[in-house]
Amino acid sequence: MAPSFDDGNSLFNFVVRDGNGVKGMVDSGLSTVPQAYMQPPIERIDKDRARKHGQPPIDLSKLGGPEHEEVAKQIVRASESLGFFQVVNHGVPVDLLESLKDTAHDFFSLPAEKKAVYRADVSPTPLVKYGTSFVPQKEKALEWKDYISMQYTNDAEALQNWPEEIRDVSLEYLRTSMSMVRNLLQVLLENLGVKPEDSMIDVLVDKKMVNMNYYPTCPNPDFTVGVGRHSDMGTLTILLQDGIGGLYVKIEEDSEFGKKGEWVEIPPVPGALVINVGDMIQVLSNGKYKSAEHRVRTTSTKSRVSIPVFTMPNATAKIAPLPEVVEKDGNALYKEFILADYMKNFFSNAHDGKKSLDFAKN
Ligand code: OGA
Ligand code: NI
Repeated sequence: MAPSFDDGNSLFNFVVRDGNGVKGMVDSGLSTVPQAYMQPPIERIDKDRARKHGQPPIDLSKLGGPEHEEVAKQIVRASESLGFFQVVNHGVPVDLLESLKDTAHDFFSLPAEKKAVYRADVSPTPLVKYGTSFVPQKEKALEWKDYISMQYTNDAEALQNWPEEIRDVSLEYLRTSMSMVRNLLQVLLENLGVKPEDSMIDVLVDKKMVNMNYYPTCPNPDFTVGVGRHSDMGTLTILLQDGIGGLYVKIEEDSEFGKKGEWVEIPPVPGALVINVGDMIQVLSNGKYKSAEHRVRTTSTKSRVSIPVFTMPNATAKIAPLPEVVEKDGNALYKEFILADYMKNFFSNAHDGKKSLDFAKN
């Protein structure tokens, strides 16, 4: 039986500890937003005030062709200003995108026991983690989201350890998206005056993770967030979102995309993927490329899914601004650090915009 969600402790036990998730709470019949999910006014997302990001998706099939320079410029401009852009002709088959969204819905519709076996403290494998919100123990208000996260080491381990219901499509997604990631990095690095070797790109995308996010319907989206303001910590994130919308990005500098501090919505575009710049690229580029601050609004009509692929260097990697860039700039905005230390800081604090980057500041 579902507990009283007015009581913070019993809510926490039901949703977080026992692995029922927000989904389990909503399915038990919820007509108002429990106190634990009420965001302070400053974090609430005013849908009517945000503009839609109007930039058409970038056509990646033109890379390497006669229009290469123009397309490369679009990628660079978007990464320097907003840190977000959408792409088409990205190499991931469009019917696979559809299967991924369907599979995510099917997975989160499974009985709680089936998902809860992957809770962090009991998961049979360190590669797979099912959870809710971001760091529930630390958050003043919880995020309206459940997720499953699958770390990639190699095909054999993925086949053996990832949940079988979602394993094959997730692996295929990873397989078909990685050459796009490498091409994008090539463009971004070349623009910094670095001659990127394959081995350097290997380092940047050494670790890969496929997540599935599930945002159940919410009785009042004005009071909650699906994900609070954050940037992604890694190299580049590939994000598949469904048709519901609600992904917002903060404009970091006055630019063709809008005014500094304004939030714009990244509208769903059928067949497109969303790319966003992570903290590591901001550090390596000595601040030229902007890791984007973003957040997600909840909806009251239909549950939303999104499926990101996160890429990052190995935890033991030493990260610092690229020497070529520092030499040109005359100073390094960030110090050298070990990625594991950065991650520890990132994953032990509640989402708080781009505060994660303070860890690396000089
Ligand atoms: C994330 C994220 C956005 C979305 O998982 O880091 O920002 O649209 N997701 O779900
Ligand atoms: Ni994110």
